[in-house]
Amino acid sequence: MCNFVTEREILSAIRNGAVSLRDVTEMTGAGESCGRCKTVIENMLKEASVNVEPNPQGRLF
Ligand code: FES
Repeated sequence: MCNFVTEREILSAIRNGAVSLRDVTEMTGAGESCGRCKTVIENMLKEASVNVEPNPQGRLF
């Protein structure tokens, strides 16, 4: 059985503060049943964290 959580719902959870698979599962139910989406969720989390990494030089521009 699968919870059929959409990519949009997962992205929304990440935008609302989810930083781990556990967070996403708690917020959306994704990965709770069949678990086939776990790798996809982890990749989405990695991609999101890359996008929010601070500038290593600490400058805004
Ligand atoms: S719980 Fe089935 S694909 Fe995520």
